[in-house]
Amino acid sequence: MSILKKHAAIEKNATLLLVGSLLVVTIGGIVEIAPLFYLENTVEKVEGMRPYTPLELAGRDIYIREGCYACHSQMIRPFRDEVERYGHYSLAAESMYDRSFQWGSKRTGPDLARVGQRYSNEWHVQHLIEPRSVVPESVMPPYGFLKDKPLDVKGISIHLAANQRAGVPYTDEMIRNAGADMRAQADPNADSGALEVRYPKVRIDDFDGDPARLTEMDALVAYLQMLGTLVDFSTYDEATGYR
Ligand code: HEC
Repeated sequence: MSILKKHAAIEKNATLLLVGSLLVVTIGGIVEIAPLFYLENTVEKVEGMRPYTPLELAGRDIYIREGCYACHSQMIRPFRDEVERYGHYSLAAESMYDRSFQWGSKRTGPDLARVGQRYSNEWHVQHLIEPRSVVPESVMPPYGFLKDKPLDVKGISIHLAANQRAGVPYTDEMIRNAGADMRAQADPNADSGALEVRYPKVRIDDFDGDPARLTEMDALVAYLQMLGTLVDFSTYDEATGYR
């Protein structure tokens, strides 16, 4: 019996075909997936990455809650038009502490992966309160209510703990101090030494322009201002990923 005839036997028997197909798919799947369990790391390490500070993490939550991702992506693709407009293309390591990632697939507004430090805090606050007051043709909705909503400080340590469980390297010390760290980052007059040791390159500022209150606006602007700023691309070598 030639090989073609043997194959005809499989094609005529639905059960045999199904069993055969499953066998082939299983082998293919194992070949693709099994090596991932043995690789040390599938994400290339990059200097400068650290977990979000409690204030940034809270801001990120507000970003997700308000559905900003429905209009904004956070992934610069390695194409010339993207790189010229937004900066260095995104590295896998830059979203390695994101639970969940915010790459997005829809751009009604621009990509935000490197929006950090591109505008002042005042610009962001004004833009979030009334987008059309700074960009007249904008179709972005206003989010002024964030400036009146006090930020939830109590819930933040649980949130860090949840991220720790999901694999983000928050230490127990970071979790214990999450509430205090959150306040310290939004208060330029606070003693922030410990915060700066725990989270290198942290930006301390009164983000919403109202030093008397800690609001959701503080958190969201702190988050926007750090996006894409952790990796120093002036010293990043594309060939090796190291200095
Ligand atoms: C309905 C779609 C839509 C939603 C939802 C939306 N935006 Fe926008 N966003 C835009 C558009 C369009 C622009 C470009 C015009 C402008 O600057 O206002 C923009 C611009 C921006 C910019 C300036 C980016 C740059 O590089 O100039 C920032 C920052 C921003 N949005 C943040 C946010 C945040 C934070 C949220 C959620 C709280 C949000 N957006 C929700 C549509 C949206």
